[in-house]
Amino acid sequence: MGLFTINCFVMKEKRLVIDYVEYDSLAEMPERERGLMECAMESANKAYAPYSKFHVGAAVLLADGTMVQGSNQENIAYPSGLCAERTALFSASAQYPGQAVVALAVVGHFEGEYTEASPCGACRQVMAEYEMRYGNKLTIFCYLKGGRIRRIEGVESLLPFGFNADL
Ligand code: THU
Repeated sequence: MGLFTINCFVMKEKRLVIDYVEYDSLAEMPERERGLMECAMESANKAYAPYSKFHVGAAVLLADGTMVQGSNQENIAYPSGLCAERTALFSASAQYPGQAVVALAVVGHFEGEYTEASPCGACRQVMAEYEMRYGNKLTIFCYLKGGRIRRIEGVESLLPFGFNADL
């Protein structure tokens, strides 16, 4: 049988569906989730972003209820800076290495106005590492324009087909 004939039989079209929740405002959120979001908002005010002027704040919730803040820290040599999400995750891991990370909230503002903040690809990969390390899914909250909040269960929804080698 020729190669052409085999190809005709093996192709399948598939579809990926992502579920997420959207709150209309902070007021709609359960208290604990709102607390994490507010912690991220406070953190954004500690960003060092003289180059992009985009102030990003993140807050990580650990299994014991501890919240750890992170904000973007820029550098004149641009790639030497770090995103808010990774600053928060690495700080949490450095201070509380035994505590699983259960949730992460992220917000960003530009020229005094909140804008959509969604984790970059590198931060998504780092989040995936914490899920793998602690064996639980992360809940991710992103502050959107107009004060809405997106809630996503599990990094897989943000990073489908991510790197996941069996090492
Ligand atoms: N940034 C974050 O802190 N988190 C993201 O997920 C995307 C981008 C920062 C990096 C840089 O300091 C600024 O936002 C503009 O890209």
